[in-house]
Amino acid sequence: MTFSRRNLSAASLKFMDIFQLKYPIVQAPTDGPATAPLAIAVCNAGCMGALPLTWVSPEMSYQRIQEVKAHTKGTFFANFVLNFIPDALDQAIAAGIEVVQFSWGLPSSYIIDKLRRNRIKMGIQVASRQGAIQALALEPDYLVCQGMEAGGHVQAAQPLARALQEVLYVAQDIPVAASGGISDAKSIDKYLDLGAAAVVMGSRFVATQESYAHPLYKKALVDSAAEDTVYSVCLNRGWPNATHRMLRNSTFNMWEAAGYPQAGYRPGENDIVAQDELDGSLFQRYSNNVPIQSTTGDVMALGPYAGMGIDAIQDIPTVEALITRLWIED
Ligand SMILES: Cc1cc2nc3c(=O)[nH]c(=O)nc-3n(C[C@H](O)[C@H](O)[C@H](O)COP(=O)(O)O)c2cc1C
Repeated sequence: MTFSRRNLSAASLKFMDIFQLKYPIVQAPTDGPATAPLAIAVCNAGCMGALPLTWVSPEMSYQRIQEVKAHTKGTFFANFVLNFIPDALDQAIAAGIEVVQFSWGLPSSYIIDKLRRNRIKMGIQVASRQGAIQALALEPDYLVCQGMEAGGHVQAAQPLARALQEVLYVAQDIPVAASGGISDAKSIDKYLDLGAAAVVMGSRFVATQESYAHPLYKKALVDSAAEDTVYSVCLNRGWPNATHRMLRNSTFNMWEAAGYPQAGYRPGENDIVAQDELDGSLFQRYSNNVPIQSTTGDVMALGPYAGMGIDAIQDIPTVEALITRLWIED
């Protein structure tokens, strides 16, 4: 164990003990960029890995879990966004997943029974006191508290520090991981000091060697600042009316210049801007897909999601180098 740099709280030590971690750092589920190699690297660096499976087929989900298990003994979770049906949950269980983390909704008692029968630990993302009270009634093993600084789809409606205070107040001895805008040692310290048991990083892990994000998207994360992020419902195709934070791009600029019209009246709405060279899918402007390595075309016109911690993203390191540096940085 090498956590001499910080005096970790009892909450952090408990979280690290439950999940057998070296550091109280959790990978955020970040859709396409977060495939098996990133989760493996995060686990092998002593943190908790993530496999977002909401939009991954059951067969592919099974394979990804098996791949991670074959390359690490570390802990990782499968993530399901409950605005969508968790089609891959049964295959994830069959593949031996040990932790499942839900966001944007609460699991049904049917799902919870299934997890408990298989001794699977459960995390739930919340963003307010009320959301936390509802989630705690389901007896989760941990909560994630998201703040509005987060990149990607933002369930939160208030800044992380305030949301965390509310959630910690009701969570009592259930560990709470803080998520949104965390990319450097200073922000890790800040939220651990505020009482979070762990911190969650999304955008920071997207800009690493092992992430499957498109190189132009990784470079944009390095080159951009927090003020280049926009928070809106612009990318309405695929997940209508869900707020998200992303880098300002051509799609957002066109929509803004036209006065933010609703779907059906947006400029360039029927343009095909990009495609996936592996499965041939075509992406229209305003689709919510993330630019990944198999995306071709005007990739940055899709969803270059980014949180407000990107000022601290200045390179594209390996995960191992990143974690070592974050832990020793002053
Ligand atoms: C590219 C990208 C994709 C995301 N996809 C998901 C997802 O599939 N499920 C989910 O619960 N959250 C998703 N999020 C939100 C993250 O889980 C997390 O809340 C966010 O990354 C934290 O903020 P940060 O990026 O500033 O670290 C995504 C975020 C990004 C940047």
